[in-house]
Amino acid sequence: MDAIASSIGTPVYVYSSQSIREQYRRLDAALARIPHRLHYSVKANSNLAILSLLRSLGAGLDIVSGGELYRALRAGFSGADIVFSGVGKTTTELGEALDARVLLVNVESEQELYALDSFARAKGARAPVAIRVNPEVTVDTPHPYTRTGERGTKFGVPYDQVAELARVAVELEGIDLIGLDMHIGSQIDKFDPYRAGVERLLSLKAAAEEAGAVVRYLDIGGGLAVSYDAEHPVDVEEFGRVIASMLSGQDVTLLLEPGRYIVGNAGVLLTRVLYRKRSGGKEIIVTDAGMTDLLRPSHYQAFHGIEAVVPADSSVVANVVGPVCESGDFFALDREVADVQPGALLAIRSTGAYGYVMASNYNTRPKPSEVLVDGSRFGTVTERERYEDIVRSEHVTPQWREV
Ligand code: LLP
Repeated sequence: MDAIASSIGTPVYVYSSQSIREQYRRLDAALARIPHRLHYSVKANSNLAILSLLRSLGAGLDIVSGGELYRALRAGFSGADIVFSGVGKTTTELGEALDARVLLVNVESEQELYALDSFARAKGARAPVAIRVNPEVTVDTPHPYTRTGERGTKFGVPYDQVAELARVAVELEGIDLIGLDMHIGSQIDKFDPYRAGVERLLSLKAAAEEAGAVVRYLDIGGGLAVSYDAEHPVDVEEFGRVIASMLSGQDVTLLLEPGRYIVGNAGVLLTRVLYRKRSGGKEIIVTDAGMTDLLRPSHYQAFHGIEAVVPADSSVVANVVGPVCESGDFFALDREVADVQPGALLAIRSTGAYGYVMASNYNTRPKPSEVLVDGSRFGTVTERERYEDIVRSEHVTPQWREV
């Protein structure tokens, strides 16, 4: 870690290829009893090198924007590897998806279905569609922002409207209804919500087939938990058994959209301590990374372990904070951490998912670098942003136009 920080600088995200391979293979093996494909959720970590690594393992992708489609194609995936979810796809994005011939568009509303139908017909195409169902199941995730399958959320089509929408879909010339989809939330460590959701999908499958659809895909989304602290990660072997038993006898391919499970524990954020001070009786450790590099602690009060790369002799209860001009810019509050001095290197753990991808340029801070480790080698997979990169699309003089 020292060698990487010294040659690349800090802050820097460091990812382990080995860990990504292991997680992918373990989940894939857990589902071996049933026809399935893992469609890695690009939003968790969309670095091109990581997408390319996952492609080499046989993964497909779950995307939620035209930008993610662009990345997917750049990383060598083809449309047949891609499912496209998202509550607000624009017509531009729907067009890009049809042109790329994606495997499934996960449609999230009646209006989106009609928009896609007319768009597909205009292109003389039929859009392969799964209806994203809001199964209205209760999920217990660490933060309300990561629950998506409860009644009244913006995601998907409410459960009681799906059968009717399926009847509409089979009549539309531009639509080929071939799947049902759900995504109930993130960091879920229990099977019950999946069980309840799959039951609901199966009853809707029967209704859709009665209406004339041939449902070939059941996409049950992502959400499998990893451990950030002392909590147990989800038992994927048991998860595989539960899902396989529910799908036995069903002529469908299971799709899963794991993000965090694949990359969450494969990354650390390396940051250097800049200063120490005391304020109001509190010890404060100021690092060169901030909420602009890793938003999760501030945004979700998420826990990330913090370790000194070179172990310190003693510990201290401190606030570990970043340099950004916000009181919410912290990684840990009142936590026992290594008693480190300026110059020490800290590793913020389990930051492979929803770390770099949620970074911003607030305070005109360049986004950090990303590095991939494989065996004894490491390589930069994202260069540290430069000031010029940040202002590239701005104009000192407005590009005036007459209204
Ligand atoms: N599929 C869909 C449609 C999703 O919206 C998501 C995540 C996933 C799959 C992957 O979920 P995962 O397996 O990674 O749990 N920024 C938050 C997490 C937001 C998740 C959004 N959707 C965080 O940092 O915890």
